[in-house]
This record gives sequence, structure tokens and C-alpha cells, in this order.
Amino acid sequence: MSVACGRLDDVRKIHVIGIGAGDPDQLTLQAVRALRSTDVFFVLDKGEVKSDLTQLRRDMLDAHIPQGSYRVVEARDPERDRAAGGTAYSPAVGDWRSARAAIYQRLIAEELGDEESGAFLVWGDPALYDSTLGILEEILERGEVAFEYDVVPGISSVSALVARHRTGLNRVAGSVQITTGRRLAESFPEGVDDVVVMLDAHQAFRRYVDQDIDIYWGAYIGTPDEILASGPIAEAGPRIERLRAEARERKGWIMDTYLLRRNPDRR
Ligand SMILES: C[S@@+](CC[C@H](N)C(=O)[O-])C[C@H]1O[C@@H](n2cnc3c(N)ncnc32)[C@H](O)[C@@H]1O
Repeated sequence: MSVACGRLDDVRKIHVIGIGAGDPDQLTLQAVRALRSTDVFFVLDKGEVKSDLTQLRRDMLDAHIPQGSYRVVEARDPERDRAAGGTAYSPAVGDWRSARAAIYQRLIAEELGDEESGAFLVWGDPALYDSTLGILEEILERGEVAFEYDVVPGISSVSALVARHRTGLNRVAGSVQITTGRRLAESFPEGVDDVVVMLDAHQAFRRYVDQDIDIYWGAYIGTPDEILASGPIAEAGPRIERLRAEARERKGWIMDTYLLRRNPDRR
């Protein structure tokens, strides 16, 4: 991606690097190469509870590149209006994305020299439930700062989840859908029996505990705090609820993902 503005070699370079779901060993060789060619890392902190995630990113840098060869610039993520539900949900996300775009633009304009390259380290894969690419496009559209960017794919929490459970995402010639807890709480997706659920703060799977469904669940996958659980949802569901509540209490935050497999005996 490039913009026609200024001499090409003047244009700042940005890498959007997928860093995997939490384990520094999940960085690809391409990601490590991109890390090593980066002068400035931009890290957005979501506040006290998520500062563990900022530290995990810093640990990844320590694990793969010599200290002193780069700078880290931290900024505070704007608060998102999570109370906005129903039809208000999309505008709330739009406002939040624009607020983020203003911060990213300032970071790129003020912290990155013309000849330098910067990087945003994105959890999992940048293509999955992440707004970084949309935000960079929004900044380019504003036309106030010029840069070109590339994207390095990462191991998503979805890939990490099914690998840890040693299962696949789909069954033979079948479909799989990736969705959010918010959508699953409304209904089970039609025409598909294998559903991956992310961003679920309210354990939407509870609605389906009386159905013929297996659940494969994982929290903090790839990190030292990883917890896994699986089984028929009637039995594993209540166990997961307990594990989840205990972990949330202990750490103050949780990131979990799960696969629901309807009619599990059908291959
Ligand atoms: C904003 S999305 C980012 C997804 C990310 N781009 C990816 O590829 O995995 C955040 C959601 O990803 C999932 N997630 C990310 N990392 C995780 C991990 N280490 N363990 C379990 N779930 C994770 C959770 O469902 C969380 O709510």
C-alpha cells in the first residue's frame, strides 16, 4: 500500500505485524524479520488490567531482537463505550476507531523520522477482529500524513485454540463460521455446525447447554496462564463457567475463545 505523495524514499514505512496469541514461539520467521527491520514500536495500552498484554509484547521484543536497537513508544488507548448496545453499537465502534486513528496519526507524524520504519504489534492475526488495518486506511484517507504499510500474518487465537485441543476447525467438506459472543447470544448461526466464538464477555454458550454440542474452550492460550477445557457442553459448560470466573478474579481480565461443534458424532 502506498500513497502518491512526496518522493517514495521519503515515505515512512509501517509494518503491521501479527505476533500470535501470546507465545513468543508463535512469531513467524517473517514476523521476526519485520521486527528486526523496525526502528520504532508503537504499543497501545488499554489500561491497568491489560498492561500484562503490553508486558507480553515487550517480552516478545526481548526474545527476538537485541535491546537498544529500537524504541518503544507507548500511548493510551481511548476508552470505548461498551455500554452502547443494539443499533448504537456500530456508531460507538466508529467513534472509538476515529479516536484511535487520531492517536495513531500523531504517533506516526511525531515519533517516526522520514527514513525510519515503525511497527504495530497486533495480537494474533491482523485480519481477524482487529481494527489496525481500518485505522491506517482512515489515516491515509485524511491525507495529512504519508506512509506505506505492509501486513505480516500471525497465528490467530483460533489456530492456537484448535492446535492445543488437537482438533480441526471444520469437518469433512463442511463449513466453519467465526463469530462474536454478542452474535451467538442472539442465535446459533444457520447452516453451519462448527462455530468459533471470540470476544465473548458473557459466556453466550450457556444458552445452548441443553443441545447436542461439544465445546473446546481456551483462555490465555499460549501464555503461562493458559487454561483449556472441552467436552459435551452440558458437562463442560458449568465447569468452564467456574474456571472462567476464578481466572478472571485472579488476574482481573480474561481473553478466551471457543469452538462449538454441533452434532459432534457426525464426522
Ligand atoms: C480483539 S480480538 C483479537 C483477535 C486476534 N486478532 C486473533 O487473531 O486472535 C480479541 C479476542 O481474541 C481472542 N483471543 C486473543 N488472544 C487470545 C488468547 N491468547 N487466548 C484466548 N483467546 C484469545 C479472544 O476471544 C478475545 O476476546
